[in-house]
Amino acid sequence: MSETVKVGVLGCGNVGGALVAIVTRDSELIAARTGVRLEVTRVAVRSTAKERQVPIPEDVLTHDAAGVVADPDVDVVVEVIGGIEPARTLILDALKAGKPVITANKELIANVGQELFEAAATAGVDLLFEAAVGGGIPLIRPLRESLAGERIVRVTGIVNGTTNFILTRMSEDGAAYAEALAEAQQLGYAERDPTADVEGFDAGAKAAILASIAFGARVVAGDVYREGISGITAADIAFAKRLGYVVKLLAIAERFDTGELAVRVHPAMVPVDHPLASVRDSFNAVFIEATQSAS
Ligand SMILES: NC(=O)c1ccc[n+]([C@@H]2O[C@H](COP(=O)([O-])OP(=O)(O)OC[C@H]3O[C@@H](n4cnc5c(N)ncnc54)[C@H](OP(=O)(O)O)[C@@H]3O)[C@@H](O)[C@H]2O)c1
Repeated sequence: MSETVKVGVLGCGNVGGALVAIVTRDSELIAARTGVRLEVTRVAVRSTAKERQVPIPEDVLTHDAAGVVADPDVDVVVEVIGGIEPARTLILDALKAGKPVITANKELIANVGQELFEAAATAGVDLLFEAAVGGGIPLIRPLRESLAGERIVRVTGIVNGTTNFILTRMSEDGAAYAEALAEAQQLGYAERDPTADVEGFDAGAKAAILASIAFGARVVAGDVYREGISGITAADIAFAKRLGYVVKLLAIAERFDTGELAVRVHPAMVPVDHPLASVRDSFNAVFIEATQSAS
């Protein structure tokens, strides 16, 4: 017999809606594979009147997010509201109440992650954030656990799908920046206000999270040098191509022998035969370089 875990979901937009749909649809499959039956018992949103991508029973849907956190019928809290507040306070309250929290909120982890990790450690419960960086790439756990015995020297990644899509269109179809951005917006990859993606803010937040975990350091989004792709022209791309390179927006976090860290996001020329050059469209990829630590 499988154990039932009651899940309270804070936010039911793109991510929360998809989560509720998957848990509802695949409940049996998840129980068969993991021995844990997930049941979404409460879902908090800003407006209960809005039409949802999944039908949510009236007694499950509420606008009282704090009430969901405190509800004895919620064992685990999933935060997919986004932004700093009220997400920060809700997560701290959940951890204090001894409830494990899962969040996809990169802005929060990149800015106040340390406070949240300390609260989780004090409460002795998990704070998981695999979805905040790299989407489907299971990246955080290997960085934290599998590579614990290695000395990570550099993490290099394509961590923003929207800009990678735009750069791919510019490289492969000769599209101008504005044209490729318009296509990304039309396909739903880019927001109407694309600033967070194209100016590198999203990648910068992810770079801060990766650096913090890879190097056990306290790096916040504001520490990251950041340059976006809005200044890249078709001529830059063509020039790079002639020299045997593709232009990619890279997030790079490295530790020097002195112990100093450098964390940055900027467009870079990547040799065509480098594996990152073949990461196309909205895909992400991350390279971790490590040396064996002296024992
Ligand atoms: N979208 C992606 O592809 C993606 C990928 C990875 C990570 N993330 C992260 O996942 C998080 C959610 O992103 P999203 O795209 O799903 O956002 P979204 O579509 O804007 O959804 C946000 C949800 O939070 C609800 N909400 C807002 N304020 C609230 C409050 N005070 N109390 C209760 N509910 C509240 C909204 O309610 P209403 O529906 O009533 O407005 C909405 O359902 C963000 O941190 C984002 O960075 C997103």
